[in-house]
Amino acid sequence: MTVLVTGGSGHLGANLVRRLLDEGQAVRVLVRGDSDNRALDGLDVERAWGDLRDARATREAVRGCRRVYHCAAKVSSGAGQPREIHDCNVLGTRHLLRAALDVGVDRIVVTGSVSAVGWVPGRPCDESMPVDPFERLLPYARSKVAAEHECLKAAADGLDVVIATSCAIVGPNDFKPSRMGRVLLDFARGRLRAYIPGGFEFVAARDIVEGHRLAMDKGRAGQKYIFSTAFHTVDELMAIFERVTGRPRPRLRLPSGLMLALTEVVDAVARRVAPRAEPRFTPGAVRLLRSERRADVTKARSELGYRPTSVEDAVREAYEDFVRRGQAPTRR
Ligand SMILES: NC(=O)c1ccc[n+]([C@@H]2O[C@H](COP(=O)([O-])OP(=O)(O)OC[C@H]3O[C@@H](n4cnc5c(N)ncnc54)[C@H](OP(=O)(O)O)[C@@H]3O)[C@@H](O)[C@H]2O)c1
Repeated sequence: MTVLVTGGSGHLGANLVRRLLDEGQAVRVLVRGDSDNRALDGLDVERAWGDLRDARATREAVRGCRRVYHCAAKVSSGAGQPREIHDCNVLGTRHLLRAALDVGVDRIVVTGSVSAVGWVPGRPCDESMPVDPFERLLPYARSKVAAEHECLKAAADGLDVVIATSCAIVGPNDFKPSRMGRVLLDFARGRLRAYIPGGFEFVAARDIVEGHRLAMDKGRAGQKYIFSTAFHTVDELMAIFERVTGRPRPRLRLPSGLMLALTEVVDAVARRVAPRAEPRFTPGAVRLLRSERRADVTKARSELGYRPTSVEDAVREAYEDFVRRGQAPTRR
């Protein structure tokens, strides 16, 4: 039985593909020919070449598969490229779900984002909380909300679909690398000049992979499950980075209000000069850290038996993987 993984060359996909191969499953990945696909080098996977925005290529990728993990998305914390983000994340998901319905897959697990979960200050968010449509939503968050609507429409049409919602992913096999990976690399190389207070929910790559496997095997059709490992403040994260890399944190701890104003200016300029560039720190990322939103994983724990591990272990695995691949200096 072949399992399709979209986004197999991405951070989550690369970890999920390795887990599936370890389990002895036959894996097909949907990948784009002109992309950085190093995460799949040397792996025994079947490659289906194509873009999710291409309905025909997507259908070809699904053909013959009984299970699908839809991890692909254009991830962004910026305000630019709204059309591309929408087309990849909403139209692409629609194409995949329709193909899955036509082909008759047994189940599709779609990766969701905590940015598509509602939120009330001071209270951990859970699966029942809808996003406030009047909130200032970035194109990525809006697209992940719309992608969930596509899932529910497909579920109403009879597709067995489960949403596995991810928080900020930390872990190995981060080839592109991700925003979190770049912050860790900057820290390890002594190039992170400043940080800000705040906090967020982080999920270890191994935990979000486990969440996807649990969602596939035990999730209830049409349901959404949030997977997080732990909430950490940025100060706690800096302490973890210090222990893992043996290097000190930046001396500069900027007030988040000041950082927000700085990133607003940089973002406005960057969008004019280099609209496709993703600055290290965007106003969206700063706002997210300032919100200190927390997530409640009770539903995943009680229904699926989900047991999160540790963010510090995930940071260590990510760092050691970067060192192994020559991207980060060895521990001091
Ligand atoms: N990273 C996080 O902290 C985080 C947090 C919450 C939710 N999530 C969700 O987790 C999932 C995986 O994210 P990630 O961190 O692994 O992101 P990632 O490393 O950027 O990987 C995304 C993957 O999606 C592929 N992709 C994007 N657009 C595509 C298209 N139109 N057609 C085919 N493939 C396409 C990319 O391929 P290319 O290389 O060709 O671009 C890449 O392989 C996403 O659904 C994301 O929304 C991530």
